[in-house]
Amino acid sequence: MAEFDVIIIGGGPGGYVCAIRCAQLGLKTACVEGRGALGGTCLNVGCIPSKALLHATHELHEVHENFEKMGLMGAKVKVDWAKMQSYKKDVIDGNTKGIEFLFKKNKVTYLQGWGSIPAPGQVKVGEDIHTAKNIVIATGSEAAGLPGIEIDEATVVTSTGALSLAKVPKSMVVIGAGVIGLELGSVYARLGAEVTVVEYLDAITPGMDAEVAKGLQRILTRQGLKFVLGAAVQGVDKAKGKNTVRYSLRKDESAHAIEAEVVLVATGRKPFTKGLGLEALGVEMLPRGQVKTDSHWATNVPGIYAIGDAIIGPMLAHKAEDEGMAVAEVIADKHGHVNYDVIPGVIYTTPEVACVGKTEDALKQEGRAYKVGKFSFMGNGRAKAVFQAEGFVKILADAATDRILGAHIIGPSAGDMIHEICVAMEFGASAQDMALTCHAHPTYSEAVREAALACGDGAIHA
Ligand code: NAI
Repeated sequence: MAEFDVIIIGGGPGGYVCAIRCAQLGLKTACVEGRGALGGTCLNVGCIPSKALLHATHELHEVHENFEKMGLMGAKVKVDWAKMQSYKKDVIDGNTKGIEFLFKKNKVTYLQGWGSIPAPGQVKVGEDIHTAKNIVIATGSEAAGLPGIEIDEATVVTSTGALSLAKVPKSMVVIGAGVIGLELGSVYARLGAEVTVVEYLDAITPGMDAEVAKGLQRILTRQGLKFVLGAAVQGVDKAKGKNTVRYSLRKDESAHAIEAEVVLVATGRKPFTKGLGLEALGVEMLPRGQVKTDSHWATNVPGIYAIGDAIIGPMLAHKAEDEGMAVAEVIADKHGHVNYDVIPGVIYTTPEVACVGKTEDALKQEGRAYKVGKFSFMGNGRAKAVFQAEGFVKILADAATDRILGAHIIGPSAGDMIHEICVAMEFGASAQDMALTCHAHPTYSEAVREAALACGDGAIHA
């Protein structure tokens, strides 16, 4: 008889959530994690530590930019980088220990070490072989890097090194204007570094609504970030004390170089499945290195499933969590489901950016008739009161049925506000449904209602 009903390999947001749900569904569950702490990239070197630094530096920005405007006077605040790092560490430790507590509470066995699958139904951790009826691969992703650029995680770094730099650099080049580049670029710009973002495409935040991307670039430029767009980075020359980033402009192939103390390579991530033994097992993979699964997260090898960044789809902690819960249901003979059409995306800059569903470009490509309801935070009293009136809410609805098809927000707490639209979309709501829902005053969320009103007879405060 197998020792466990399920062994999950990987203790990140996909894996640990899957483990807890499996245990809640009555399955005897173990979770294997090799990094010495639960929570994966997200809690240890991703979402959570970056949010700690974003929070601290946002407060710094407020002190410098807005305190005097509100009559809060005094000596300027100084940065103690070591203390900020220790605050970040406390945040990480508190969160990862919290997952250990949840494992104990739910009776999930935590197997510490790197796992591999020597044969179907077996998971090897260190020298021990454990048996399980089902195995879930939740091993996540790693920074993809760029060919020809050697990462040392000291002055040429991925997001991991960028979260723990020895000191605040005077200058930083960020390669890639995606989520990581803009979030961590913002952190260091607020700390006083001269930050230049070099991006291959002609716009920042690939795949996002074009109007939001333009608006965000304008706002971040005002905050001091510089952008070089349409530029392909070819390499980084390392020398003591400085790095030189070489790039060519796509429009005329002219060659350029920028010097910086630190270079952050933020050009995407790739699935991490090294050392699992998948090739020997005959697990089918996709050309870009993801584990191939069916619509129930099953691989071609019976009893082996995969979820999260290791499979296809957006590399987002919450997408992995949803898949973790859904595959647990599938393994427990219930009905696991993920609605991939309603997965929000958030960038935690100031202001935040949040989106869900279709962009205007996607709707145009589909040839679908749609209407746009847009409302600026300039018309939102609460946002104006706290110097956060930049940005807007844009709701896209079907021209004939008024059903909400997508929403794009750039503004204060956008990452929280997006969820009322997600819920509305899950229930197939129309923009009018949202417009008829009473929204408390004074809140940022009133801007969402106003955008919904703008899909119909018009917003009130526009
Ligand atoms: P990304 O895919 O978001 O952006 C990478 C950018 O690098 C792209 O704009 C690409 O055009 C550019 N690029 C690629 N090669 C280049 C070159 N040679 N020269 C110049 N530019 C080049 O990847 P990123 O920011 O590294 O994030 C990785 C993953 O982690 C993403 O899937 C992201 O969604 C996820 N993530 C999500 C967060 C959130 O939800 N807030 C936070 C951090 C990461």
